[in-house]
Amino acid sequence: MKIIIANWKLYLERGASCALAQKLVLEFSKSLDGKKLIVCPSFVSLKEVGDIFRGTDISLGAQDVFWEDVGSYTGEISPRDLKELGCGYVIVGHSERRKFFKETHLMAHEKIKACLRVGLIPVLCVGENWEERRLGQRDVVIIQTLHEVFGGIHLRPDDHIIVAYEPVWAISGGGGVNASAQEAEYAHQLIRHMLLDLYDMNRVNDSFRIIYGGSVNPSNIDSYTNSEHIDGVLVGNASVKADSFLRLIEKA
Ligand code: PGA
Repeated sequence: MKIIIANWKLYLERGASCALAQKLVLEFSKSLDGKKLIVCPSFVSLKEVGDIFRGTDISLGAQDVFWEDVGSYTGEISPRDLKELGCGYVIVGHSERRKFFKETHLMAHEKIKACLRVGLIPVLCVGENWEERRLGQRDVVIIQTLHEVFGGIHLRPDDHIIVAYEPVWAISGGGGVNASAQEAEYAHQLIRHMLLDLYDMNRVNDSFRIIYGGSVNPSNIDSYTNSEHIDGVLVGNASVKADSFLRLIEKA
């Protein structure tokens, strides 16, 4: 089953988020044709968008989370509260969090542990930036990130994690162009090999899904979803306009 995750970032205010959520429900109330659709609105829209999705096959996700449930942490978002609000998924370690809020691999590690503790499925973003790509460091960046984020995390049979290969240079907000399906496939194989260094084959097969993100749109989606190795896509910009997102889902 191909996974489509919509990352609405801070593109839509509450009213627009609810309007788009309603369009999705109208369009896909009957069938998602075997696709798994996960929508991650802004925190302040989570409750209302979640209410709109209730009883449908569309899942709710958050764009970030903190690693503690309660305490003196001004401004933070508790994993337990997200779970209670109906979220099933959380994006962790997105490059925009790393760039604007200086988030580190260690923070992503703590967030993943917190997600698994309360039964949320983390979506870890990993990928090199322009400079690292120019210096030929893509593989090192991927290997180091996975090592530092997953090192020491023991997985139980019912734990699930999505890893998104999301090269920073390909993200549309930074003026990026999408990575070719071949590049995305290569990175997926590398991620899988790296996970096999950390976990046994059954755990990797059962617990992990590996997707691609970065300037995915209705014209290029099929190059990723046609690949047998790529389990789905993480979509930003093209997921916040109803027409492009509906076309993208249909073509996936
Ligand atoms: P994009 O964003 O599809 O606009 O490139 C993807 C992301 O940042 O998750």
